[in-house]
Amino acid sequence: PLPDYSPAVIIGTGYGAAATALRLGEAGVPTLMLEMGQLWHDPGPDGKVFCQMLNPDQRSMWFKNRTQAPLASFLWLDIANRDIKPYAGVLDRVNYGDMSVYLGRGVGGGSLVNGAMAVTPKRSYFEEILPRVNADEMYGKYFPRARAGLGVNSVDEQWFETCRSYQYARVSRKAAQKAGFSTTFVPSVYDFSYLRQEEAGTVERSALASEVIYGNNHGKRSLDKSYLAAALGTGHVTIQTLHEVREIIHQPDGSYTLVVREIDPSGAVVATKHVSTKHLFLGAGSVGSTELLVRARETGRLPDLPDAVGQGWGTNGNVMLGRANHVWDTTGSLQSGMPALGIDNWNDPVHPVFAEIAPVPAGLETWVSLYLAITKNPERGHFTYDVASDSAKLQWTAAQGQPSIDAAKAMFDKINSANVTIYRYDLFGDTRPFENRFTYHPLGGLVLGDATDDYGRVKGYRNLYVTDGSLIPGSTGVNPFVTITALAERNVERVLAEDVLA
Ligand code: FDA
Repeated sequence: PLPDYSPAVIIGTGYGAAATALRLGEAGVPTLMLEMGQLWHDPGPDGKVFCQMLNPDQRSMWFKNRTQAPLASFLWLDIANRDIKPYAGVLDRVNYGDMSVYLGRGVGGGSLVNGAMAVTPKRSYFEEILPRVNADEMYGKYFPRARAGLGVNSVDEQWFETCRSYQYARVSRKAAQKAGFSTTFVPSVYDFSYLRQEEAGTVERSALASEVIYGNNHGKRSLDKSYLAAALGTGHVTIQTLHEVREIIHQPDGSYTLVVREIDPSGAVVATKHVSTKHLFLGAGSVGSTELLVRARETGRLPDLPDAVGQGWGTNGNVMLGRANHVWDTTGSLQSGMPALGIDNWNDPVHPVFAEIAPVPAGLETWVSLYLAITKNPERGHFTYDVASDSAKLQWTAAQGQPSIDAAKAMFDKINSANVTIYRYDLFGDTRPFENRFTYHPLGGLVLGDATDDYGRVKGYRNLYVTDGSLIPGSTGVNPFVTITALAERNVERVLAEDVLA
């Protein structure tokens, strides 16, 4: 049952939300978390919590009639996607015209579906994107705190050189080095010792069974196993699932009342409820939190929200691409779904690129090297309110994605030329070699210092905070969850001391 009142409420259970919940709980603040997705704990009829990526069922996606996998095709055949029954599945793809955003749904948010890469941004770039945040404090205190809380670990470099799981990464490294690029190991929240046992055949496979985007049944330290478990362990934090916050009402006494819609896993609305709070934290992610505040401003619920609400959104410069490997350069059929290596050319003055070497977890030899490139795209989108659908719509055009392609092309043209290889044209539905019509890394919308003060306090309202990826101005130069977590750690420490406990 939902209480009428909780001293603190957090919307969402992703990275920012989870770090905030742990620190509030440790401080003894009774905290309620509201999550629209499910708790992924009970096994389905096949004995598994999450479905197979290569044979997805209704558990795969959030209310779709057909799965929408990022690799739309192979040899132009739509082999990846299946018709499914609409259901409260774990992966959402929110389609806005020229841009689609992938999101995790459930207790743990994006941590349930992501590639587990736990990368700390280069300090010089962090200082460039968030110049008003004290970098000494971040790199000395909050990044280490976040990595510890997340359970970040590194691959054994000797094992990496000989294992089957990363033959695909070694093939891509060789090609990159031939063009003069250097690679770097990528830390992870996937347990590498579990992966080694998977390869040895002593445990049930997860990363080696093509499990990634629809959830991992083993091996991954998703937030429900790290921060959220610790938060619940304080005894002061509770989580309500299948509860979607729709509206935020500001009461004359300064408190907030939330209008919450409870659904069942088939999508039927079970109840509409109200819960009030003094301290309200938005951790619904870049798309979720921004939509809540854009709707609140435009419907007159929170009329004093600044114009910066809904601005400064970016894709982290995401572009996906594939290269055709030489027939003798096999990657093997066994590929870890969790990347461990990236091509690091971020210091390039014209086209900075950090390209993670991604698996093609098809379970067979594909002769494809796949990459998710993170580029420095200066374009930013913004959200507008659509009355008819009572939702926020992202304004982003295909042309705004071009700088991402230009940067990735600069790197991979060189790699292709040095290796006499070509791009793959059959992976993304049509014949395009670069796919930038989706992002895994939505960032911004409620940018730190613009829509909020320098600690995530929303401008115009007291005791209203943003804790998630919407604070980051569109780009971090690396995979974002470590940055999101560290920033939340920093902000909640200040807010606890000055606002909540004061
Ligand atoms: P996040 O999106 O995690 O959580 C928000 C939560 O709020 C969700 O659980 C959502 O259901 C809930 N919610 C939203 N609106 C709500 C409402 N109105 N009411 C109630 N609940 C609501 N990053 C990285 O660093 N390394 C990686 O390897 C990858 N790989 C990757 C792969 C894929 C497939 C995806 C989709 C994403 C990644 N990412 C990644 C990105 C990473 O997962 C992402 O940046 C973070 O999850 C964002 O964290 P947030 O705290 O911002 O929100």
